[in-house]
Amino acid sequence: MSIRLGDEAPDFTAQTTEGEVSFHDWLGDGWGVLFSHPKDYTPVCTTELGMAARLKPEFDKRNVKIMGLSVDPLESHVGWEKDIEETQGTAVNFPMIADADKKVSDLYGMIHPNASDTFTVRSVYVVGPDKKVKLMITYPASTGRNFDEILRVIDSLQLTSKYSVATPVNWKNGDDCIIVPFISDEDAKAKFPAGFKTIKPYLRTTPQPDKVEAKETAA
Ligand code: BEZ
Repeated sequence: MSIRLGDEAPDFTAQTTEGEVSFHDWLGDGWGVLFSHPKDYTPVCTTELGMAARLKPEFDKRNVKIMGLSVDPLESHVGWEKDIEETQGTAVNFPMIADADKKVSDLYGMIHPNASDTFTVRSVYVVGPDKKVKLMITYPASTGRNFDEILRVIDSLQLTSKYSVATPVNWKNGDDCIIVPFISDEDAKAKFPAGFKTIKPYLRTTPQPDKVEAKETAA
């Protein structure tokens, strides 16, 4: 059964570079990102893990834990991480699942047989505090992911969950947001004290609510 948005993220226990992890317990009450790498000691993956490690403080700020996966054994991960630190200038600072038996890869549909029978594709799953899958992205092995984009989507998801706003095309943190259609104008007036612009009755924009709150707190 393939995983779809809104499904509960399947729970599992796995060996990782930070010991045995039980996924749901490890997530706790926060957000999580689970992402797969085709293979240890491969060039694109090496750059991705370096970038994920550099961006860990940004994930921490958002209360998001990150966990990687590759279908190689633990000893291989440990050796590869030395290379990552040497070549990328950052030690890997999050757990990497050693999924040699492909238990987790199969559970999450990370192996796409028409791409490769043996390697995972580059899957990304973002899981919310309710353990539901909020985002899935799939890249081929040959294309490194954009981790700034993953953070951008997490910012959007967290705004939606807290303020009932959506984010428009190419939105960046700080840009105006969109008021979701099921909120009436009357409710929007109460909910968005900075006001909103009605371009069409179904297209209403408002300043990013958490930035407004931050300004009000500072004033
Ligand atoms: C890489 O991470 O560089 C890679 C892995 C598998 C296929 C192609 C590239």
